[in-house]
Amino acid sequence: MIRKCLFPAAGYGTRFLPATKAVPKEMLPILSKPLLQYGVEEALSAGITNMAIVTGRGKRAIEDHFDNAFELESQLSGTSQEDYLKEIKEIITKSTFTYVRQKQMLGLGHAILTGEPLIGDEPFAVLLADDLCDCADDGVISQIIEIYNQYQCSVVAIEEVPMHKTKQYGIITGNLIDNSSNTYQVTDMVEKPEEQNAPNNMAIIGRYILTPDIFEILKNIKPDKDGEIQITNALKIQAKRGKVIAYKFKGKRFDCGSVKGYLEATNHFANNLSINS
Ligand code: G1P
Repeated sequence: MIRKCLFPAAGYGTRFLPATKAVPKEMLPILSKPLLQYGVEEALSAGITNMAIVTGRGKRAIEDHFDNAFELESQLSGTSQEDYLKEIKEIITKSTFTYVRQKQMLGLGHAILTGEPLIGDEPFAVLLADDLCDCADDGVISQIIEIYNQYQCSVVAIEEVPMHKTKQYGIITGNLIDNSSNTYQVTDMVEKPEEQNAPNNMAIIGRYILTPDIFEILKNIKPDKDGEIQITNALKIQAKRGKVIAYKFKGKRFDCGSVKGYLEATNHFANNLSINS
């Protein structure tokens, strides 16, 4: 059973400077809701109530967001504006939030390893909040939990990206094992290859289920040429043992770490809003 979701949220959000100088990039809103709240809602809808957040310096707004705000609540109590806080209050009631600070930015693998004390010895989900996904039915975390329940090993959600974008993603190589559910047995992985070196266009998006042996692997991974510890390289070791499944998720993803993707997401959710209202 997957009980915990890890949210790496220590990054600087450089592509969004100066907006992210004092505001964590995970707190940038799509309409009136911060990116990280969409992520927490996705985890909750998959039955996960334990949210483990890897933060860093300058990220205190995240903790405040997922906590009661007595002064504000008492001010709005009994007024017509009370409803604006309803959603977030429900999330706070249903979930437990734990935090650890990443002291140095040494890559996604390092961020995940920093979360080990919050996770312990159990399989867990990882959600990168700047990959915002909109799914018609189950969210991506629910979808990959279903795959995990079937195969009992690490799972990565993937999507096909244009070849010129392979250098922005971890790319998998794999054998299709189930046509109907779009699942692949991963045989190899490479982090951010240039187009000419990429084996294909199957890119890992920011949704993972990881088995806890990943922590020992991460402790022994050598940093890459930029001094970063990559989760892709740790997963590659599991893949060589036949222990990684890739799953082409059903839904639409927006790369909200880029201004273009962020605008697309905003337009998409705004259009949904006007259709539904
Ligand atoms: C990270 C991972 C990469 C993955 C991507 C998904 O990269 O290193 O393998 O494809 O997330 O968003 P980042 O976007 O943090 O540079």
